[in-house]
Amino acid sequence: MQMQHPFARRGPAFAAITALALAAAPAADAAPPDGAALYNQRCAGCHDDPGASSRAPAKAILATRAPDDIVDTLAKGAMAPVAAGLGHAELDAVALYLTGKAPTRGAAAPADPDAAAACGTGGPPTAGAPRWNGWSPTLDNARFQAQTGLDAQNVSRLRPRWAFRFTGGVGGQPTVVGGRVYFGTGSGAVFALDARTGCIHWRGEIKGGVRAAATVGPLAGPSGGSSRLAVFVGDRTGGVHALDAATGQEIWATKVETHRFATITAAPALYRGRLYVPVSSSEEISSYVKDYHCCTFRGHVTALDAASGRTLWTTYTIADEPKPYRTDPKGGQLYGPAGAAIWSSPTIDPRRGVLYVATGDSYTDAPNTGSDAVLAMDLVSGRLRWSRQITIDDNYLVGCTGAPGQPSACPRTVGDDYDFGASPILRERPGGRAVLMVGQKSGAVIALDPDRQGQVLWRTQVGLGSALGGVEWGMAADRDVLFVPIADPYAPKGKGRAGMYGLNIGDGRIVWSNPAPAPDCATAPKGSLINICTSGLSAAPTAIDGVVVEGSLDGILRAYGARDGQVFWSFDLGLARFTPVNASGPVKGDTMNAGGATVAGGTLFQMSGYQTSNPKATDLLVAFTIDGR
Ligand code: HEC
Repeated sequence: MQMQHPFARRGPAFAAITALALAAAPAADAAPPDGAALYNQRCAGCHDDPGASSRAPAKAILATRAPDDIVDTLAKGAMAPVAAGLGHAELDAVALYLTGKAPTRGAAAPADPDAAAACGTGGPPTAGAPRWNGWSPTLDNARFQAQTGLDAQNVSRLRPRWAFRFTGGVGGQPTVVGGRVYFGTGSGAVFALDARTGCIHWRGEIKGGVRAAATVGPLAGPSGGSSRLAVFVGDRTGGVHALDAATGQEIWATKVETHRFATITAAPALYRGRLYVPVSSSEEISSYVKDYHCCTFRGHVTALDAASGRTLWTTYTIADEPKPYRTDPKGGQLYGPAGAAIWSSPTIDPRRGVLYVATGDSYTDAPNTGSDAVLAMDLVSGRLRWSRQITIDDNYLVGCTGAPGQPSACPRTVGDDYDFGASPILRERPGGRAVLMVGQKSGAVIALDPDRQGQVLWRTQVGLGSALGGVEWGMAADRDVLFVPIADPYAPKGKGRAGMYGLNIGDGRIVWSNPAPAPDCATAPKGSLINICTSGLSAAPTAIDGVVVEGSLDGILRAYGARDGQVFWSFDLGLARFTPVNASGPVKGDTMNAGGATVAGGTLFQMSGYQTSNPKATDLLVAFTIDGR
C-alpha cells in the first residue's frame, strides 16, 4: 500500500483489527469453545421462538447472516450487551454454530474492496454548500430544505448516479457538508465519500457500531478551539467520537453513558460549540437476560464541549435515580423508575434558549413524569424548563404482554410501548406564534405551545398505532404542512392506516392522505419486522420545494406533491440492480427505515437496508441525480 493512500493513515484502526484477528486464533492445544452450548445459554431464550411482540429475529434468520456480521453484532453491535464477557473465540464459535461457516477474520484477511474506490485527489474538507448537516438542515428539525436544485418540476427525472456498498447495518442517514458525504456503519466504519462520484476520501474506524447520523462542525466550544473541522458521531454503546474531517483520525472520544444497555441512535445537535447528545438504551430487551436486575437506565441529554469532548452538563429525563422498589415473583430485586430513553435528535430553539426532546416509554411501574413526554432544557445550564407527559403508565419491557408466563421483571401494568421515536419539529402557526409538533408510535400527532409550558394546542389521531408505529422515526414540515408517515405494520387487514399524510400546521386537520399500496410480497424486501411483508412508512420523510420524499418498508422511494399528496415519482429499490463503486454488481436495493433521504446540491442521498429488522438486507447508499448525470 502506497504512503499517500487514504487508508494508510488509519493506524489505530488497523492495529485494532490486527489485535482482534490475533486474539481470535485459538491456542493450538485448547479445545474450541462449544458454539451450540453458548447459543443455548446466551441466545436461545430470545431467538429460538420469538413471539409476535419480540423484535428478535428467529434462529433460522440468524443462520442466513454472514458469520463476520454475527461476530460484529456481538462484539460491537446491537447484541454487545447480551454477549458481554464472551471472548473472540467464543463469538466465533457462536457464529460458526449459527451459520455453519467460520468467520474469515481469524484467517487471512480478505482483500479490501474499498481500496479500489479511493479518490485519487481531494483538497481539504470545507464546511460550505452543498450541505445537509445532521438530522435536519435547520435547527428546528423540520427536515425541510429549499433551493436544493430539485423541485416538483424535475424530481420525476431522478435516476441513480452511483451506489456504495457497506456492511454491518445501516447507520444514520447520510450527512452532506462541503460536497462530501459522511456516515457511519453498524460495524463501526466511518466514511467520507465524494458527493459527486462516491469515491472514498477516507475510511475511519471507531470502537462501537454506528446507527446515528453524524454532525459536522468546527472543533471549537466554550473552552476555545479552532476552525479545524470534525465529524461528531455517537456509537451503539454510549460513546461519542470526534474524527478529523480531513483524515478520519479520532481526535477525542467521550463515554456519555456507561450503562450496559446504553446506546445512541440519533445525531447530536451542534449549536454554538456545544454538542447535545441524546442517550437511549436497549434495556427493554433485558427481560430475557438471566439474573439481570432490571431496570436502571434513565434517558438523558449530555452536553459536550465540541472542542474537547468534556461534559458540560447531563440532564436526566427522569429526575429520580432508580432505587430498589419491589421484588419480582421469584424474589429478584427490581429497580425503578427507569426508561424515558431519547431515540431522536434534540431540537434547538435559539429564541427561547432551550432544546426540546421527546422521550420513550417507562420500563417499570415506578411512577415518573418523564416517559412518553416532551422536555424543554436550558441550552447553557441544562436546567429543565418544563416537561409535558403525553402518555402515563406506558410501562413496557420486551415480551411483556400481561399474560401468564411472561418474563418475571415485567411491570404489573403493561403499556403499549408508545415511545416518541421522532424528533420534535418547531415551526410557526399562521399569525406567527410558535408550535412544537411531536409524532408518537401511538399514531397520534400532538402540537404543543412552547410559550405555555408545552400546553397542548391540538392532537390528531393519524395512524392506528403499534410498537413499531404509528409514527416511528420522523416527520417533516414546510411552512404550512406537516408531513406524517404512518407504519402500522401489525394492523388487521383493511384496518391499518399505513401511508403518507399532510396536516395543517395551524389546527392539525388532515388536508390530504395517500395510503400505501399493498406490497408485492413476492418481490418486496421484508420490512419492518422479520417475516412481515408490509408497505408501511417507518422512515423519516424529507421536504424540499413543493415535494416530500419518503422511503417505504417494502423498498419503494416516492416523491409526493406537498399540497395534494399525489405521488409523481417512485423508484423500487428492491427491483433495481446497482453496481456499487466499491463492489461488483449487480446488487439489489432493500427496505428503507429510520433515517430519511438527505438532499443537497441537486443530489438525493438514500440509505437502503436496515439489518435491525431485516438481517438479510444488503446495505447500500444510493445517490440520485437528474437523469443520473
Ligand atoms: C434478551 C433477548 C436477546 C438475547 C439474549 C439475544 N438477543 Fe439477539 N436480538 C434480540 C433482539 C430484540 C434483536 C433485534 C434488535 C433490535 O431490535 O434492536 C436481536 C437481534 C440480533 C441480531 C441482528 C442484529 C442486527 O443489528 O442486525 C443478531 C445477529 C443477534 N441478535 C444475535 C444474537 C446472538 C448470537 C445472541 C447470543 C449471544 C443473542 N442475539 C442474544 C434479542 C436478544
